[in-house]
This record gives sequence, C-alpha cells and structure tokens, in this order.
Amino acid sequence: MSVQIITIDGPSGSGKGTLAAKLAAHYQFHLLDSGALYRLLGLALQQKQLIDALDTQLQQCIDIATSLNIDFKTTTQGIQVLLNGEDVSQTIRTERVGEFASKVAAIPELRAALLTRQHAFAQAPGLVADGRDMATTIFPQAQAKIYLTASAESRAVRRVKQLQAMGLDVKINDILANIIARDKRDMERTTAPLKPADDAYIIDSSNLSIDEVFALMTTYVDQRLAN
Ligand code: DC
Repeated sequence: MSVQIITIDGPSGSGKGTLAAKLAAHYQFHLLDSGALYRLLGLALQQKQLIDALDTQLQQCIDIATSLNIDFKTTTQGIQVLLNGEDVSQTIRTERVGEFASKVAAIPELRAALLTRQHAFAQAPGLVADGRDMATTIFPQAQAKIYLTASAESRAVRRVKQLQAMGLDVKINDILANIIARDKRDMERTTAPLKPADDAYIIDSSNLSIDEVFALMTTYVDQRLAN
C-alpha cells in the first residue's frame, strides 16, 4: 500500500504543531514533528558540552546525531518525548533548547544525519510531516503540501500564551526578538532554507482561528488525496 504524505512547513508559532496533530488524528496518519528531532539533537549536544563546538567537533556531533537514543511515546496526556530514556517533553520546548535547535539546523552535515530517521516515519497508511523543509527536501513526493505562516507579532503573542500555560515567566519583546532572529537564520541558511515549495498551498493564519485553518487544510487535503 502506498504511503500518503501531507507536509506542513512554516515558521515557528504559525500553529503548525497543533494543526499537524489535528490532521494526523483526523486522517489517522502517523505524525513526524521534525522540529522535535532538531531540539533533541540540540539538547543532546548541549549535554555533552558540544553546542558551541559544532564546527570544531563536527564528526563527534554527527556521530551523536546518527546514534541519538530517542523515543516518541503516545500517552493519554499527548506525546511524550524521551532522550536516553529520560522524559524531556517540556525541556525541549523551552526557548533555550529552541536556540540550540536553530544552531544545529544550520549545519548541513547534521541535517543530513537526521535524514534516514525522518524518512522512517513514512509508514502506511500515511504521514503528516511538520517542519521547515518537509516539502522542499525530505518528502518532495508528498501528495499535499501546506505552507502555514503568520505575522511575527501574532506568532509572538501565541508563543507567550503557550509558555505562560507551561508556568514560565516570559516577556513579549524577548519572544518577538527571538522569533525574528530565528526566522532570519532559518530563511537565510544555505541548506534547506525555510521557504514554500513551488506547489505548496500557502495559508496565512494571522487572523484565523485554529478551526478556520483546519477547515481550509482538510478541504485542500481531501482534494489532493482523492487525485
Ligand atoms: O519547529 P520548531 O520550533 O520545534 O523547530 C526548532 C528548530 O529546528 C527551528 O530553529 C527550525 C529548525 N527546524 C529545521 O530547520 N527543519 C525542520 N524540518 C524542523 C525544524
């Protein structure tokens, strides 16, 4: 049976994570949160004091990337993310680990080291793949390609709410500055920069609710999967 693939790319805070999970549940497809892989690798490298030595200790970093011991466990609370058996679900969502992930993501050799792991998620009946380069690089054969974006300001507001819900004390200006810096790094890197695929369906979620975006997506995906 062929595997149907839906990709959702876009900048952080566009609502991709929530919508990817909703689409996966709706179509009963597997889910790849590729950002979590970059976050896990960032955390693993930081734990080994290598996050500031990505250039000088590259081979060691590649070896860690290829042998990363990680697991995504579905629980009643959602998906639990494990690194070497330890629950790091909350830790990897912090701004600090987001920064590590962004540094890791700028190194082509480390991106390449995560490739096989990402392809392995493509299993019947289908996959929803959430990231930055899902349509352009990892799954160019995907049947449905969505690019979800939103203004930096609206993404900062959403991110602050998310972090506050996790009990963290954050300032909107810091978050906005982080978002702008990370967007710039993600869009300007030479390998797999953040950009829509030529045949992507682009949605701007700045003034739309999750339900409105979901409705647009399912209308598009239903039509693409029927072809
Ligand atoms: O989606 P996220 O915020 O969890 O992603 C964390 C970082 O990883 C972010 O800087 C972008 C990068 N990333 C990437 O370069 N390619 C992907 N497919 C997913 C994430």
